[in-house]
Amino acid sequence: MKYFKNKIVKGINEVFNVNVSVKDIEDSEGDRGDFAFPAMKIASELDGKPREIAEKLRKNIDLDFLEKVEVAGPGFVNFFIKEEFFARKLDETLSKDRMGVKKKTGKALVEFSSPNVAKPMHIGHFRNNVLGDSIQRMLNFIGYDTVSENYIGDWGTQYGKLVYAFKEYGSLKKFEQNSMEHLYELYVEFHEKMETDDKLLEKGREWANRIENKEEEAYRLWKLFREASIDYHKNDYNRMGISFDRWTGESKILEETKEVLEEGLNKGIINKDPDGSLFVDFGDEMPATVLKKSDGTTLYLSRDIANLKKRKEDEGFDLNLYVVASEQDLHFQQLFKICERMGIDTDGCEHISYGLLNLKDGSMSSRSGNIVRISELMDKAIEKAKKRIDSQELKKNADKIGIGALKYANLCVTKQKDIVFNWDDVLTFEGDSGPYLQYSNTRAKSIVQKTDLKGEFKGDLSEMEYSFLKKLSKFPEMIENAVESREPAKIANYLSELCEIFNSFYHKCPVLKADETTMKRRLKLVELFESVSSEGMGLLGIDCLEEM
Ligand code: ARG
Repeated sequence: MKYFKNKIVKGINEVFNVNVSVKDIEDSEGDRGDFAFPAMKIASELDGKPREIAEKLRKNIDLDFLEKVEVAGPGFVNFFIKEEFFARKLDETLSKDRMGVKKKTGKALVEFSSPNVAKPMHIGHFRNNVLGDSIQRMLNFIGYDTVSENYIGDWGTQYGKLVYAFKEYGSLKKFEQNSMEHLYELYVEFHEKMETDDKLLEKGREWANRIENKEEEAYRLWKLFREASIDYHKNDYNRMGISFDRWTGESKILEETKEVLEEGLNKGIINKDPDGSLFVDFGDEMPATVLKKSDGTTLYLSRDIANLKKRKEDEGFDLNLYVVASEQDLHFQQLFKICERMGIDTDGCEHISYGLLNLKDGSMSSRSGNIVRISELMDKAIEKAKKRIDSQELKKNADKIGIGALKYANLCVTKQKDIVFNWDDVLTFEGDSGPYLQYSNTRAKSIVQKTDLKGEFKGDLSEMEYSFLKKLSKFPEMIENAVESREPAKIANYLSELCEIFNSFYHKCPVLKADETTMKRRLKLVELFESVSSEGMGLLGIDCLEEM
């Protein structure tokens, strides 16, 4: 807990007058006490032997909460905190605003999801959505003023192709029955045909130009497809329990894109080819990139330049986060580089990159085309959750359990790592899973609800109780770390470990049947667990349940 670490740092400084920070104080367990300081860290500064420095510190440090101080190994100083002091401080900390997590302020934009028009979201988007949603929740929690943005891919030659395909082999009736599936069919069909018919690309470009020039039919169809796609996606978001503060799209930044390209050209950052196209050269650093084609159409990257400028300069966001798969790492390196060269402020602009989500071969096949849709993934999780729930009455929880399980399975893995999905692990009620968090949380709630008494730290803590208390005390710092590194996995893993401790505590330490002092003390731990786990699950976007 920061409180103790800060005081220990002050204590060390009083003894030695050296440069030590909270980060130098380590958490420790068991016979190594509660916190440790390796005197090796200041040995060269003090020009002494670590073991001797440690001894001197042990003798001279004077803090009211210290039970004892010991020296171990080559120069570790182990601090033991008085238990009742630790318990009181924990209670106090967790009842503060943000449960003792240090406040940060600023305006943060979290862009995530950003699917393309006319394509259903696939399982990779599931990972994106839950990551982005959780990161927004985390930033909100610590005090940022956040805006989540869905910047949809709604511009470019592909929509010319789609309008053409719709006119040639589409059907209004099919579109009305299931717009997204029909558009996706057309997309697949057009690309198949393009392989043998090289005139098709030309057609696509022609219609893209018509959309760009806002010609009636082309523009109307493009708009229709755009809106139908948004409606379709909204259904998926609703089921995931995710919403956006604003919806934008590539088509909303076209004017600004032209201006920014002009600006780059004038500044000599962007170069012009004899054929009229615009490009940027990065020398050996990265591959060069085209920003405008010779036919005058601008590219995805050029729109991002204009958009970044708008968010930073016009809207004044301190943080501008892009949650986008690692396939686009180069895209964002190029984007940030170009902006820097142009003198656009890129402070607080980050690409939050993440790995793939894969299903084990054969664990799911898609309805059509070659992608597994988000909706199919959710259907399957819910169906599996239903089978796991024995009581007829509680089957109503299947949605929350199924979706919670999927969210957890995506969030418990470090962003950069690929995930291979194993349905049995995802839906287990036993450990390291979404249902396990929900189950532990409801178990705690039901204990709290069975009594009118309030918990209170009284009497001596048993070893089990003390390790439970210590795990709870790590919550605030863990959250600070998780937010700093934009890593929900830290929260997920912490919660899973915390639930494990709670469950052994639950089996070893009866709460309601214990004598009054013991009962109140244990009840207090259960109450704190309930609030920490509810808050933590909330940050992952996983629903708490009343009963399970
Ligand atoms: N629509 C893009 C795609 O599906 C993702 C957009 C990411 N955001 C951005 N500002 N480039 O690949």
